[in-house]
Amino acid sequence: DWVMGDYIAEAVAAIRAQVGSDDVILGLSGGVDSSVAAALIHRAIGDQLTCVFVDHGLLRLNEGDMVMDMFARNLGVKVIRVDAVDDFMGKLAGVSDPEQKRKIIGKEFVEVFQAESKKLTSAKWLAQGTIYPDVIESAGKGKKGAHTIKSHHNVGGLPEDMHLKLLEPLRELFKDEVRELGVALGLPREMVYRHPFPGPGLGVRILGEVTQKAAQLLQRADAIFIDELRATVASERDAAAGLCAEADVGKTWYDLTSQAFAVFLPVKSVGVMGDGRTYENVVALRAVVTSDFMTAHWAHLPYELLGRVSNRIINEVRGLNRVVYDVSGKPPATIEWE
Ligand code: XMP
Repeated sequence: DWVMGDYIAEAVAAIRAQVGSDDVILGLSGGVDSSVAAALIHRAIGDQLTCVFVDHGLLRLNEGDMVMDMFARNLGVKVIRVDAVDDFMGKLAGVSDPEQKRKIIGKEFVEVFQAESKKLTSAKWLAQGTIYPDVIESAGKGKKGAHTIKSHHNVGGLPEDMHLKLLEPLRELFKDEVRELGVALGLPREMVYRHPFPGPGLGVRILGEVTQKAAQLLQRADAIFIDELRATVASERDAAAGLCAEADVGKTWYDLTSQAFAVFLPVKSVGVMGDGRTYENVVALRAVVTSDFMTAHWAHLPYELLGRVSNRIINEVRGLNRVVYDVSGKPPATIEWE
């Protein structure tokens, strides 16, 4: 639509005026905000933008390939993909305290990003996908003001000696405007309307010690859950059973939930397969409905859907033999398990 077209033209002109012929770096997380910022800045300055994507092994299944396909292949954005899986797994070995895990992941992310950024010696600007609610939030907390670097996006402070200036082209936009902008810039709708994903990623969805094996099992279980939520639409029968409103019939269960994911439990239970006994891990499924993520209800998903997800996980993911569904509200439970 032409209103968005006008907005893009203005934003592009503003970015060009601001950076001139300077080079810009941006930490691409795969999240909506950094992705839309990258697409917009690339529209404005093309090859003057270099994105750095850190793969720590705690992302959704195939997330790294998806990011490279979308940005490098389809949009022609310069993206440096850093494979830091071993670094992260090494630092996380033996650590099971949730807050310590968060700290380690955040710190390691900053270190990897900084090391990569330092190689791009021509860069004068650090771009970030800061949006209006982040500006309000950091001002409200009386932090270092509006230019505070978003800590939960994990792109922490850069060394002073790099003297990078901040470029934040989404600072005046609300989340829904950022999404519309992303679609107008050519990002796939299903990417732009994804459920939120926490900065520490699967690190806080693998309870206890994080291992690469647990991460790989969890990625596959999670992908099956999300696949089925996307593939299943609410039926008249679901509405009649009170699981959704009449107006929601025909929408996918992915769109009818605010956030959904699997959690890896460091617990083994006994199962049977063929003639043999199995002794393998349990995953929990979590799906919530919320408007602000401060409070949330557990999603009343249809039993058939939950059954299908459970069967597929147990049949397709060797190493998992039991699936449970989390029926806790927030409060008192939080959305994430750690
Ligand atoms: P909780 O678990 O606190 O989650 O009910 C509320 C929302 O915040 C997300 N979340 C995080 N996001 N870094 C993030 O970027 C984090 O450490 C983190 N912890 C929770 C969570 O996914 C949910 O959307």
